[in-house]
Amino acid sequence: MPTFASSNNQKLALVMVGLPARGKSYIARKLARYLRWRGIETRVCNVGMYRRELVGAQVSHDFFDPNNPEGLADRMRVARLALDDMLRWLELGGQIGILDATNSTRERRAWITKACAERGAKVVFIETICNDHAVIDRNVRETKLHSPDYVGVEPDAAVRDFLARIAHYERAYQTVEDDEGMYVKVIDEGKKVIVHEIDGDVLSRVVFFLMNLRTKRRPLWLVRHGESIFNVEDRIGGDSELSPRGHAFARSLAAFMQTRRNDEPISVWTSQLKRTIQTAQNLREQPVSHRALDEIDAGICDGLTYSEVRRRYPDEFAARSKDKLNYRYPRGESYGDVIQRLDPVIIEIERHERPILIIGHQGILRALYAYLMDTPPRECPHLPMPLHTVLELTPNAYGCTERRFPLAC
Ligand code: F6P
Repeated sequence: MPTFASSNNQKLALVMVGLPARGKSYIARKLARYLRWRGIETRVCNVGMYRRELVGAQVSHDFFDPNNPEGLADRMRVARLALDDMLRWLELGGQIGILDATNSTRERRAWITKACAERGAKVVFIETICNDHAVIDRNVRETKLHSPDYVGVEPDAAVRDFLARIAHYERAYQTVEDDEGMYVKVIDEGKKVIVHEIDGDVLSRVVFFLMNLRTKRRPLWLVRHGESIFNVEDRIGGDSELSPRGHAFARSLAAFMQTRRNDEPISVWTSQLKRTIQTAQNLREQPVSHRALDEIDAGICDGLTYSEVRRRYPDEFAARSKDKLNYRYPRGESYGDVIQRLDPVIIEIERHERPILIIGHQGILRALYAYLMDTPPRECPHLPMPLHTVLELTPNAYGCTERRFPLAC
């Protein structure tokens, strides 16, 4: 599967930096999901998880006091384990490790840089800075209160303890400086991004992704176009019209969306093919058609049925059955190509603040779904994507919750 032009064998350690509740884990997980979707083996090592396992989840804020020697020793011990696991995973074939922790002192970062250099990994710091108290308060309430650290703790007491934890970190915090090497600073949720010494294709994409990442949570609906004439004939590709059943679905979809939109304006995106545009025709909103959302290009097989492909091009049929992710139709595309073509769509989804309804095609929706639900690329070409069913994906703290609505037509 094509990843990035210059994704060589250089192992990368993306090291998160920042005070607690600044969105580090959110960014780390989203970035990991994006990179995995682009075919890069990526793993997040969250130091908090090691701390919960080794020291216990429910430690009071004193544990994080920089003047508490036992706390400091325990924190160093868990950081060492997490870093070591990440480096071992990179040595075993992983490509990008993300170390998710505060890493908030120069001393800690110098130690990480040295350990990574000794084991052949290049370090890039990703520092998240946020001084907006409303955002910090929202992060504490939306994520920290639901963390294992505060199970069974009364919410106000949990908030007080967490703010005391932040205050301990603030006393020792040192922002990343130029002499520490490569870094990206994401300030106030992407309002400002500072980049230092970043180079190469993969890291440029990482920076671009971070620049466009927003934190507003809004639902996203994925739906295939209504049944088309080609669907009825079992033909692939083409640009056929909707069948009568497909038109009935377009009406059901408009009625369904009335019940889901909460009076909020939504964006509707279609491909440039007739069957998706016709499916949008009864909606209140004017759709925007994107060429990037056109169905996988079946090349010389476009317009054929699957049995015609098997008869006329038995070798092609066999090759596709063997490796559907990497197989490229002659003069057409592979799923890997589709993922590459959809990259700007993913960036736009991340940037967009409104709820979005995407009316697409089977192959395209599989690829988008694989990103949104963090499905391994290999499974992507086989994901079930039935006609006349709306997938509603609602973001939660670090991923999405899925509901499927089959509509009558
Ligand atoms: O059959 C409908 C369709 O959208 C075709 O146009 C397209 O080639 C196909 O699905 C993609 O699915 P698969 O990759 O399983 O052949």
